[in-house]
Amino acid sequence: MIIIAPSLLSCDFSKMGEECASVLAAGADWLHYDVMDGAFVPNLTIGAPVLKSLSRAVSAYYDVHLMINDPLKYAGDFVKAGASNITFHVESQSDPREVIALLRESGVSVGITLRPGTSHYALLEYLPLVDLVLVMTVEPGFGGQSFMPEMLEKIKTIRAAADETGKRDLLIEVDGGINAETAALCARAGANVFAAGSSVFGREDRAAAIEEMRAAARAACKGGADV
Ligand code: DX5
Ligand code: ZN
Repeated sequence: MIIIAPSLLSCDFSKMGEECASVLAAGADWLHYDVMDGAFVPNLTIGAPVLKSLSRAVSAYYDVHLMINDPLKYAGDFVKAGASNITFHVESQSDPREVIALLRESGVSVGITLRPGTSHYALLEYLPLVDLVLVMTVEPGFGGQSFMPEMLEKIKTIRAAADETGKRDLLIEVDGGINAETAALCARAGANVFAAGSSVFGREDRAAAIEEMRAAARAACKGGADV
C-alpha cells in the first residue's frame, strides 16, 4: 500500500478548502497538516480551529503532524477538530506514553516522529504502541528543503525492527524533500506513506505529480520490501 499525503503547508492558504479538494481530486490519499508552535520549531503555522473548519468543509483523512512542545496539552483539540492520525515528536516536552494513551483513548491513529538528528533508539520502545512512525527527511520547520539521503538507513532500521517484533503493518511515513525520485528511495528502504508539499502544490499538474510519485514508489517496492 502506497499512501500519498500532500502537505498543506505548501498550498495557497487564501483558498485552503479548494486546495484540499484539488489534491484529493488529483488522487491524494491523505492530507498532511503541519502544526508548528514557534518554539519546538522556529516557525508558526495553523492550529485546531483551522482544521475544524477544513474537516467540516472537506471530508478527508487528515494526517496531523504536531511540531509543538506540548502535544499532551493540545492533541485533544486536534482530535475534536477532525484529525484522523496524529503524529507527535519524541523530542517534545510531553511524556510519549501519556500522549499515546490519550490518543489511543480518543480512537485516532497514533504516530510518533523524530528529528533527523535523533537516533531511532529514542523511539524503539514505543514501536509496539503506535500505528505509524514518521521519519523526518529534513529538519522540521519549513517546506521546500532538500531531502537528506542519510535518513534512508534510519528507515531501513525502523522497518527491520518493526518486522522483527511482528509489527509488519507499521506505517512508515517520510516527510521533507519528497518527490518521485526520493519517494522511490524511501519506498525501497521500507517507507509507505509519503508527505510531499512543494513537489505537489508547486506543480501545475498535481494529478501527474501524485501519480508519478505513486508509480515510482510502487516500482521501487517491486520484488523488494513491498508493503
Ligand atoms: C516540514 C514539514 C513538512 C513540509 C514538507 O517541517 O513537516 O511536512 O511541509 O514540505 P516539502 O515537501 O516541500 O519538503
Ligand atoms: Zn510534516
